[in-house]
Amino acid sequence: MRDDQTLLSGLWYFACLSRDIAHGALLRRIFWGEPVVLGRTKEGEAFALFDVCPHRAAPLSAGRIVESDQGGPSVECPYHGWRIGARDGVCAAIPALHSDSAFDSSMIAVRRFPVHEENGIVWIFRPEDTDRTKAAKPAIAPPSTGLPPSFRPQIVTVAQAEGPYDETVIGLVDPAHTPFVHRQWWWREGAGLQDKVKTFEPTEFGFKMPAHRPSSNSRIYKMLGGAPTTEIEFRLPALRYENIRNANRFILGLTAITPEEDGFARITHMIFWDMPILTLLKPVLGRMSANFLAQDGAMLREQNKNLSRMTTTPLYVGDPDEPAKWYYRLKRAWIERPPSGAFVNPLAPATLRWRT
Ligand code: FES
Ligand SMILES: [Fe+2]
Repeated sequence: MRDDQTLLSGLWYFACLSRDIAHGALLRRIFWGEPVVLGRTKEGEAFALFDVCPHRAAPLSAGRIVESDQGGPSVECPYHGWRIGARDGVCAAIPALHSDSAFDSSMIAVRRFPVHEENGIVWIFRPEDTDRTKAAKPAIAPPSTGLPPSFRPQIVTVAQAEGPYDETVIGLVDPAHTPFVHRQWWWREGAGLQDKVKTFEPTEFGFKMPAHRPSSNSRIYKMLGGAPTTEIEFRLPALRYENIRNANRFILGLTAITPEEDGFARITHMIFWDMPILTLLKPVLGRMSANFLAQDGAMLREQNKNLSRMTTTPLYVGDPDEPAKWYYRLKRAWIERPPSGAFVNPLAPATLRWRT
């Protein structure tokens, strides 16, 4: 099953939080093994470029943002001052060329990555390798929280994951680890395993457990009161939504996993809500969320002690491991989708039974 380690292209990944890039600032990150500079113009527009100067490879992120004579903001390389258009990646100026020079700098460009900013999140689009043009256009819309634009994550937790990327992603859809890895008192310690029956349906780029009454053995839901329901969705490449609501309030947990250097990924867990009581509890909730993610991170590190030295074939057994297999089916279908056709989700509605 773990045959294809490809990192998917043609999809949007979580890049960073809006607050990570101040106006006029540059930020270097590694995404899917490639250096990327994230930046924000003085007017507030976020952008992303390949973080390698086409001249002699200095990181553009070590430079600064300037208004180019040709109009439009540029990133000025710190080494010899080449200017790269923030919006289009096109070289706007090569300062060392004599004013007699007829060289057309616009023949040079660096790869530009489309970005989309919403609800305090910056998403970055990974173009197909076959489409390295500076104008790569996303064929699909960026992920959405479904919330009004004014909402920002109340809690953000970041963890570094070590190990094969797919193993990290499967952690998002793996029900069976929960009672063993996450043994918090406030979650459900001592409640014992219970038989569960969960229905799933395919979504545009993944699958979801439609809104249902959450299992009675998790204390956190009780805090919400008023018959809360929860809906959990997984979406390619590596996004998990957990939407908990009662009649008039909601909590949205959004987990995104971004591949960085080979063998490393960044897990970002964000929580949105519209409940003033939770805002009071923010410090406590922040610690809970950090503990939760640290437990996943520690387990992945344990697992990687073996995975980093040998190739193993996982034994997926029964319904609890079905979502992991769905992830691989979705991946394969995405890779094999026709170049000009729409993605066809290969999954069918299903009911899974397990004990957690
Ligand atoms: S390396 Fe960037 S201008 Fe020379
Ligand atoms: Fe977990």
